[in-house]
Formats: sequence, C-alpha cells, structure tokens
Amino acid sequence: MTETAKLSWDDKTLELPMMSPTAGPDVIDIRKLYAQGDVFTYDPGFTSTAACESSITFIDGDKGELMHRGYPIDQLAEKSHYLEVCYLLLYGELPTATQLEDFEARVTNHTMLHEQMTWFFRGFRRDAHPMAIMVGVVGAMSAFYHDSTDISDPWQREVASIRLIAKMPTIAAWAYKYSVGQPFVYPRNDLDYASNFLRMCFAVPAEEYQVNPILARAMDRIFTLHADHEQNASTSTVRLASSSGANPFACIAAGIACLWGPAHGGANQAALEMLREIGSPNRIPEFIEKAKDKDDPFRLMGFGHRVYKNFDPRAKVMKQSADEVLDLLGIENNPTLQVAKELEEIATSDPYFVEKKLYPNVDFYSGIILDAMGFPTSMFTPIFALARTVGWISQWKEQISDPGMKIGRPRQLYNGPTLRDYVDVENR
Ligand code: SDX
Repeated sequence: MTETAKLSWDDKTLELPMMSPTAGPDVIDIRKLYAQGDVFTYDPGFTSTAACESSITFIDGDKGELMHRGYPIDQLAEKSHYLEVCYLLLYGELPTATQLEDFEARVTNHTMLHEQMTWFFRGFRRDAHPMAIMVGVVGAMSAFYHDSTDISDPWQREVASIRLIAKMPTIAAWAYKYSVGQPFVYPRNDLDYASNFLRMCFAVPAEEYQVNPILARAMDRIFTLHADHEQNASTSTVRLASSSGANPFACIAAGIACLWGPAHGGANQAALEMLREIGSPNRIPEFIEKAKDKDDPFRLMGFGHRVYKNFDPRAKVMKQSADEVLDLLGIENNPTLQVAKELEEIATSDPYFVEKKLYPNVDFYSGIILDAMGFPTSMFTPIFALARTVGWISQWKEQISDPGMKIGRPRQLYNGPTLRDYVDVENR
C-alpha cells in the first residue's frame, strides 16, 4: 500500500497519510486537510467516509459477509447464543465456560426495573407505539440509575452496560403489555434470556405459561442476527451522542429514536405490512413496477442496503429460520411467506434490482417469524432495538475508552445568503 495519497487543486498539492485496516478498503487520513488545505470534503450520507476506527464488526458488502470479532454470523447463529455473542461483542473474545456463567448471572440479576418506573409507563396513552415508550423509558433510566452515569468510571460503564442489556427485554415486554392492557409480568431468574422475554410478553396471571423451546431458540437467533452491524445510522447516532460525554442511557435512547425510521430498523414492520398489502403473488408485478417508478416514493421494504451489494447473510439465516419455525409450528402455506419468497424470486431476477444490486436485507423475513410467534407488527422494531442494544453499548464503550476521543462536529457546504445588514420592518 502507498504511504500517502497526493491531492492537488489550484496551486496546492497535499500529501495525506494512508492507513491500512486488517480487512476492507484502505483509508485516506484527512484529519489535517482543512488545517493544511483550507478545504472540506463533502459526503452527506457518509457513503465514502470512515467515521471511526473499530475492531468489533466487519461487513464485506460485495461478498455478503458479516463477522463479529472475526467470527462469521452464520456460525454464531448456528453454534452460539445471544448472551455469548453479547460477551464476544463487549469483551472481544468468546468466553470460557466460567466467564459465560458469570456474565449470564450478572445479566440475570439486573433484569428487574426500578418499581417506580412502572408509573412512568402509565403516563403514556394505551395506544402509544411501543417504540415511543422505549425511547422515553430508556432515556428516563438516567433518572433512576444515577450510580452508573459517570462515564469516566470504568466500573460505572460496566454496570450501565449490563443494566441496559438486562433490562431491555423487560422494557420491551412491558411496553407491549401496556399497549394490550395486560398486567406487567416480572422477569424470572430461572429462565434464559429469550425465554424470559417470551414469558414476559405472553404470560398472564390467570394461568401458567410454558415457553415453547422452538420459539425460544428462534427468538434467541433473531436477537443474535440483530446484535451489531458496524457504523449503521443508529450506531453512528449513539457514537455522536456519546462523543459529547452524554450518559449511556441518553445515548442508547438516541439510538432507539434513530432505529425507528422506516429506512432503518422500522423496515421490519414496514416490510410485513407491505407483504400483507401485496396479499397474493399475482399482485407482485404491480408493486415491482411501483418500486421502479422514479416518480413513486414507494420502495420495496426489506430490500436494498447501503453496504450489502449481495445477499445480506442475516437474511439467509432468517429465511431458513422462517421455514423451520413455521414448519415446527405446523403453519403450512403461510400466504405472507409465499408472497415473500415469490417477491424475492421475481425482484432478484429483475434487471432493475440486479443492476442496482438490491437484495433482501435482515428486515425482509424477520417479520414473518415474529408474526408467527404472535407479536403485533408494532413490536418488531422494539425487538430489533432490544437486540441491537449490545451493539450500541459495545461501540459506545469502544469510543469512550479511546483517549483520543473528540466531540463529533461535522462542517458543511454553506449555500445560504452571504453577509447582509438588517432592514427595519418599515423598509421591507
Ligand atoms: C437496516 O446500515 C445498516 O447496516 C442498517 C441495518 C443494520 O443492521 O443496522 O442493516 C438495518 O436498516 C436494513 C435496511 C432496512 N431498510 C429497508 O429495507 C428500506 C428499503 N431500503 C431502502 O430504503 C434503501 O435500500 C436503504 C435505505 C436501505 C439504502 O439506501 P442507500 O444506500 O442510500 O441507497 P439509495 O437509496 O441511494 O439507493 C440506490 C438506488 C436508488 O436508485 P437511483 O437513485 O440510483 O436510481 O437503489 C434504489 C434507489 O431508488 N433503491 C430501491 C430500494 N433501495 C434502493 N429501489 C426500490 N426498492 C428499494 N428497497
């Protein structure tokens, strides 16, 4: 690799240092460009910008590969489980049996919420979207857990990380219970992470609830597939918020707010609603044409990706899991799954999608499984947020542990009015 990149314009020539990653493209270090060249770079969607250095997750968009600390997602989805993946993302290595047992015990012992928070939920209307409740409740955690908000204290950073990972299932489940008018179900320490979440969502005081192990395994796999994904929009939001020194609960609340958008984590809800609107395979061509029409803002939800220009490896695992779960639940000929498979077939052979390298992403099949499990579409993005919390927290920890961390403060290409004097109202 060359040591420097040469940049010339007008009468200027700059030599900018180049940096080599362990995987992915080389980068040109432009940190001194403005000081030495008096110019900015322009990249509003960050399509060509590395905003940080990280060793947590790597995506090869052309090959359709995703790895966490070097381990490929398909192996983790098959052989590992969510809390082990949490440990890997947080600490960088797969845990020994003792380390895993200790980590799972620490998470288990933090699953309850401060009892006063139950009143916080009650301030919402019953028809509030669960994502609105999650943004509010997670942000409010900084008002309940003061003893883990000092980010300069490594111990408080650790406690805040465990609290957030442990309490998100309780918050998401209670947001769901509140929306359906059922009483909150408290977590149980004798259940694994995914089983606890399913029980808190679907148990009622009137009868015993037995967790279906098939659903628990599928739920755990969905959590693993959503755990982290490099510098996506919500992770970048968390990093920018944490660069000001904001407390971890406020930063994660900012990430939840960003994830809610339909172009990002909100796509899983939008994708299932789109598949239901299509309704049957014979209406697919009509929607394909809408998606291709430049004058129509409609896009195929669950399709396309900023980085993947090949199949999203998570979508592949999710598609297999959808087949398994529906089969094991005895749900045959699920019309929505049939439409999804036909749509994938047609879209991925259509020249428009082939040329633009648009493939199904993580959000295309996930809703079919969640729907089969009994979740309303409004709970799809909260489940994504629950699972992504460990990714946000791992990236947050990586950033604030960096002694060279600086507050994120982008510049702009200004095209507004140049300097002019104030005009009194009588003279306008
Ligand atoms: C997630 O970043 C991450 O890693 C996110 C995520 C994670 O784990 O954190 O992977 C999770 O957010 C997955 C993406 C979920 N969103 C959707 O499924 C919504 C539908 N997808 C699109 O909105 C879009 O594909 C994005 C937002 C995902 C990506 O947008 P980009 O990278 O900005 O691409 P683009 O909008 O510039 O599209 C390139 C071209 C455009 O056509 P031209 O202007 O070049 O002619 O492809 C077209 C787009 O119109 N296009 C689509 C399309 N997605 C892109 N056309 C029809 N249907 C689509 N879904």
